[in-house]
Amino acid sequence: MRLFFFHTPERAPNSGMADAAVAIDVLRATTTMAWSLQNGAEAIQAFADLEALDAAARAWPADRRLRAGERGGARLEGFELGNSPLAVTPELVGGKRIFMSTTNGTRSLDRLRSAPLLLAAALVNRAAVAQRLLQAQPATVWVLGSGWEGDYSLEDSLAAGAIVAALLEQGGGSLEDLAGNDEAAAAHALWQHWQHAPEQALRLASHGQRLQRLGNHDADFACCAAVDSLALVPLQTEPGVLRAS
Ligand code: MLT
Repeated sequence: MRLFFFHTPERAPNSGMADAAVAIDVLRATTTMAWSLQNGAEAIQAFADLEALDAAARAWPADRRLRAGERGGARLEGFELGNSPLAVTPELVGGKRIFMSTTNGTRSLDRLRSAPLLLAAALVNRAAVAQRLLQAQPATVWVLGSGWEGDYSLEDSLAAGAIVAALLEQGGGSLEDLAGNDEAAAAHALWQHWQHAPEQALRLASHGQRLQRLGNHDADFACCAAVDSLALVPLQTEPGVLRAS
């Protein structure tokens, strides 16, 4: 298996697609997706575009849908949910389809939509993601960070490195064989640096600082930094639709 890490959707190659792909948005979209499915949501339907979200949501039975919208870290007006993993309680999301659009995370998923195997990863499920990849044994894997509006993000690189480390721990071979590009090797080094203090890295990250400026997000940070707290992996089962696996 050769794993290629790209910092942002813009950095992914313009042509071709890997055998498997992993979208990461630690703060907070992929963490929230994993927790929504853990708490019983029927599926997440992800949209880069709000108009498309609105049309799809309106076509779904009102008692079985929730709309989650975030821009700039804040909940969009008129949406039932923003993008906090703490808000997706079993009482609220159980049995519901969540129609979701976020600033960066849902754009990464959209970019990878054509991958034969597409997973959503965060720190909370990185060992489970590594396990799914080792089960599927794809020859090539693209791991895509979401970044922030085209810029690098520390927390997504940290999670990419955490996945590389989990693959190595679970028998995925050597770093030399696994790392398909320098970004993958650098992400692994970043994880080695921060692995014992991931929450500190999330708070240091520019989007972590944005969230702190917006208000108290202590519980979000603790949840997003809880490495391997979930065994579940959101898996694309039809274009744009992720279910628990
Ligand atoms: C995003 O998609 O950019 C994030 O998940 C933003 C957030 O923290 O809500």
